[in-house]
Amino acid sequence: MKQILMIEVSPRGTDSASRSVTHTLAARLRDLHPSVKLICRDLAIEHLPHLDEATLRAISTKNVDEAENLKQKAQQSDQLTDELLGSDLLVIATPMWNFGIPSALKAWIDLVVRPGRTFQYTDGGVLGLAQDKKAILVLASGGIFTEGAWRPWDFVEPYLRQILGFIGIVDVQTIRIEGMNIPTLAPNAVPNANKAVGELAL
Ligand SMILES: Cc1cc2nc3c(=O)[nH]c(=O)nc-3n(C[C@H](O)[C@H](O)[C@H](O)COP(=O)(O)O)c2cc1C
Repeated sequence: MKQILMIEVSPRGTDSASRSVTHTLAARLRDLHPSVKLICRDLAIEHLPHLDEATLRAISTKNVDEAENLKQKAQQSDQLTDELLGSDLLVIATPMWNFGIPSALKAWIDLVVRPGRTFQYTDGGVLGLAQDKKAILVLASGGIFTEGAWRPWDFVEPYLRQILGFIGIVDVQTIRIEGMNIPTLAPNAVPNANKAVGELAL
C-alpha cells in the first residue's frame, strides 16, 4: 500500500465521533504500513465549491482547445481526482445529516466523479476507471440505521456504496458509529467502533 486518501467531513473538531474513529484507523494503518503516504482532505476546513458553468465545461469538454483555455478552472478537480486515482485506499468519514451526506462531501464527489477520468461510458454501459482500490466508510449517526424501523431512512451508506461502485470501487468496508443521540447507546458508540477498526481487513 503506497497511498491512502482520507476524507474528513465533520465540522465538530474534537467532539466529532467520526473523526475520533478515523484517528484510531489512521494509527492502525500507519502501524501496518509505516511508509504509506496518508493524504487527509479536511472538507470542514477546505470548502470545496459547487460546480459552476465554467468548471463543468472545463472538466467535461472533449474539445482540446477549449480544455486548454479552461485548464485553470479544472485545476482543483484535476488535483482531487489525481489524489483519488493515485490512492490504494480511500477512507470517507462522515456524519449523517438529514438522513444523507453533508453537502461538503457531495461537493467533493461532484469534483471527482468525472467522465473520462473516473468512469467511462461504453457500448456495454458504464465502466468504472478507479479500479483496484479499496474503501472504508466511517459513518456516524444520531440514530440506528443498520436495523429496525429507520433502516429505509439511510441515504448515506447505500448512496456511497453506489457511487463508489459506479467509479469502480467495489471493495468497501463500513464502520458504523450509531446511536450518538440515544443516551443509552451514545457512550459505547465510539468505543465499539474503535474495536471494529481492530477487526477490519486491512
Ligand atoms: C445538521 C445535523 C443533521 C443531523 N441529521 C441527522 C439525521 O438525519 N439522522 C441521524 O441519525 N442523526 C443526525 N444528526 C446527528 C449526527 O449524525 C451525529 O451527531 C453524528 O455523531 C455526527 O457525526 P460527528 O460526531 O462525526 O460530527 C445530525 C446532526 C446534525 C448536526
